[in-house]
Amino acid sequence: MEKFWLRDLEFLGILNQAWAYQGHQGKPRPPFDDLIQRLVLSSSLEKPAVIVSVDIPSGWHVEEGDIDGEGIKPDMLVSLTAPKLCAKKFSGPHHFLGGRFVPPPIADKFALRLPPYPGASMCVRIGKHLPVDVSAMRENYTSPEFLEDQAMADPIDQFRAWFNDAVAARLREPNAMALSTADKEGKPSSRMVLLKGFDENGFVWYTNYGSRKAHDLSENPCASLLFYWDSLNRQVRIEGTVTKVSEEESERYFHSRPHGSQLGAIVSKQSNIVAGRHVLHQAYVELQEKYPEGSLIPKPEYWGGYRLTPSHFEFWQGQPSRLHDRLQYSPKDVDGKRAWQIDRLAP
Ligand SMILES: Cc1cc2nc3c(=O)[nH]c(=O)nc-3n(C[C@H](O)[C@H](O)[C@H](O)COP(=O)(O)O)c2cc1C
Repeated sequence: MEKFWLRDLEFLGILNQAWAYQGHQGKPRPPFDDLIQRLVLSSSLEKPAVIVSVDIPSGWHVEEGDIDGEGIKPDMLVSLTAPKLCAKKFSGPHHFLGGRFVPPPIADKFALRLPPYPGASMCVRIGKHLPVDVSAMRENYTSPEFLEDQAMADPIDQFRAWFNDAVAARLREPNAMALSTADKEGKPSSRMVLLKGFDENGFVWYTNYGSRKAHDLSENPCASLLFYWDSLNRQVRIEGTVTKVSEEESERYFHSRPHGSQLGAIVSKQSNIVAGRHVLHQAYVELQEKYPEGSLIPKPEYWGGYRLTPSHFEFWQGQPSRLHDRLQYSPKDVDGKRAWQIDRLAP
């Protein structure tokens, strides 16, 4: 157990103090006394562990708090059901209430005034956010170097290798990319879309042909894609020109989507103003009746795919002291054939 906690401290820097109720039963007992001592000491380290206390922090009195100063000082307190009196003495930056599990009859019986829990949340913040110093936020990147002799000759192959790494690293939605377009005046806009295919012909995503991005693309087919794979310290920029994919290709993909997503695509006149969520719900329910699960839903003509044919790539890998690797691929002509020139850019 101790090993587990210490590993947590060293590698995650997070301790979930789940041995609740130690605190209000007097002095911490083994094995927690030793652990608590280490946690108290860790607060004097250069990068102390982040401590999360569930209910009463260890070493605290249930009403009086950390009486003799020997209890742990959590960064985050999760009060269960209702804050205990000692929570008044909590001065850390994050105070949450976990109380979704209170059954309504109990809440009624004790006239508990529970805050609203949005969505599927089990916890709500009850303390105030402390001001954050954005200018002090910085990460030092450490990754293997990305050198010219490791870069593949074809940027699509290079992209495939990095994309596979992102999938293998089990990143959430490694195919999420920022798509930037510009209208005919050059006014830019960006949004996330999901990559749905790539090969030597380009990079494909699907959307609504009446949306703002579609409007931009009809006026100006130049666009850029940006992938950021956080825990790999990698970014890939791709620039090129965009065309619609064939109706057959869009049709095939549309019918591969879940039933609800197909209906959603019909309901949403993407990027238009709607009077409220109820309008979307209403239209969705009507369509559900019209097209029950299992029926063939016709793809609306205003929905389909785009393909970006790349003309430039940049593969970026973060390095210490901001000396990042940036390898750019630009097209060149070799004996009448298209090839790629690889250049290093200053970070
Ligand atoms: C992770 C993520 C993935 C998204 N994928 C798509 C997508 O594949 N197609 C799409 O039309 N919108 C997608 N969206 C929504 C878009 O970001 C955007 O809100 C929508 O396309 C309207 O953009 P527009 O008004 O600029 O055209 C996604 C949003 C997120 C956050």
